[in-house]
Amino acid sequence: MTTTYDFGMIGLGVMGRNFILNVADNGYSAAGLDLDQAKAEALKAEGSGKAVEATTDTAAFVNMLSRPRKIMLLVPAGKPVDQVIESLLPHLQEGDLIIDGGNSFYTDTDRRFEYLKGKNIKFMGMGVSGGAEGARRGPSIMPGGQQAAYKLIGPILEAVSAKVNGEPCVAFLGRGAAGHYVKMVHNGIEYGLMQLLAEAYDILKRVAGLSNAELHETFKSWNEGALESFLVEITSHIFAQADAEAGSGELIDQILDKAKQKGTGKWTSQNAMDLGIPVPTIDAAVTMRGISALKSEREKVSPHYTRSIEQLPKADKEQVINQVGEALHFAFLITYAQGMHLLSEASREYDFGLHLETVAKIWRGGCIIRAEILEDMRQAYQEQPELSNLLLSPVFQSSLLYGQRAARAVLQTAMEHGVPALALSTTLHYFDAFRAERLPLNLVQAQRDYFGAHTYERLDKAGVFHTEWGK
Ligand code: 6PG
Repeated sequence: MTTTYDFGMIGLGVMGRNFILNVADNGYSAAGLDLDQAKAEALKAEGSGKAVEATTDTAAFVNMLSRPRKIMLLVPAGKPVDQVIESLLPHLQEGDLIIDGGNSFYTDTDRRFEYLKGKNIKFMGMGVSGGAEGARRGPSIMPGGQQAAYKLIGPILEAVSAKVNGEPCVAFLGRGAAGHYVKMVHNGIEYGLMQLLAEAYDILKRVAGLSNAELHETFKSWNEGALESFLVEITSHIFAQADAEAGSGELIDQILDKAKQKGTGKWTSQNAMDLGIPVPTIDAAVTMRGISALKSEREKVSPHYTRSIEQLPKADKEQVINQVGEALHFAFLITYAQGMHLLSEASREYDFGLHLETVAKIWRGGCIIRAEILEDMRQAYQEQPELSNLLLSPVFQSSLLYGQRAARAVLQTAMEHGVPALALSTTLHYFDAFRAERLPLNLVQAQRDYFGAHTYERLDKAGVFHTEWGK
């Protein structure tokens, strides 16, 4: 077997196949491995005429690759990644590079890095976003680890990634598990934006009575303005999709309202709690996926509480559409701000060495959360690289002040109509809490001292105090 292929991919599901075809289209030869013969055959068929080969044999696959070998894994996160690494090890040589391109938990990436370092194998944790279409036409790619490893694979990644203004949506992000951490937070933001869009849909439909055709038009027009983003765009398409199965109506109305999750949003919330950084919009999105999954319980509760609440007349369509659009813009900005705040703290805590401008830059294209807003964010970080919280950036202050009024109006209407909007309301409360110089948590501190002698600090003098309360 010749040792001529520039790049190897393990896991030839639709993402892996598309990524490899993208590599080949950019002038690199690529070999794929999958133990499932059908998947290997599918790649051979799709890649015919291109510099692409596929096999089900690990040894043959490794031998096809030029050294140092560059082998990317697109297999489900968790045990499968360790199993594939073990199966590869007997065939690899010093200096070869394994890249985990799945949604692995960042501490697993650290563990694998240390394990492989002991065997002189380079390892890189790398987020890839953009779904099947992104993998084929240009994803956003979030690699982390060691610069030396990035040097080996960087040219291929830069060639295959999405481009914005001619700039690739990939960059070496930082040390250790930086790449997988950034991808985790990307997904947390993705959860937040998706939940906000779902709430907007619910309000427009149930409060203002929009039809699917009107929803399609509304999201389409939003995507032509300040809300321009991949998620708003696909949402507009979703409302226009006919239900081929039923032969009439739109598909959206036949989809069960139970959202599944693979865990990255929950990890973001959990880790944010550990680091003491609030990301309540993401927390709310995870909570709502949980409530959605409890469908049979909702069905039992529902009949007891629906009457009397849902009998209000429909609100004025035009007014609600405008307010919801402005409220969404406000809430989108804050969702990104929460994610960026978390990245800023995580970078300090875990010594990733992240540059938030670079993160905003590579998220502008290719990924699920790509949006016009990200260019403004990139500029905000360019002007203030050490900015910990985007709420402090002059770039966003007037937009936030403007949008918060609409968020209040939308939430008032939603609450009157009994339509849940947990993510939007928690986003507004987050904003109100941050802009409050004084929160009522002095009372919490007093209570802690009252029952547990946990002490408190005073506004008027330094030191730590305790009071024998009630005596
Ligand atoms: C992406 C997506 C991708 C995947 C999510 C879905 O960036 O391309 O985020 O990674 O679609 O993992 O996550 P859930 O199954 O948890 O919704």
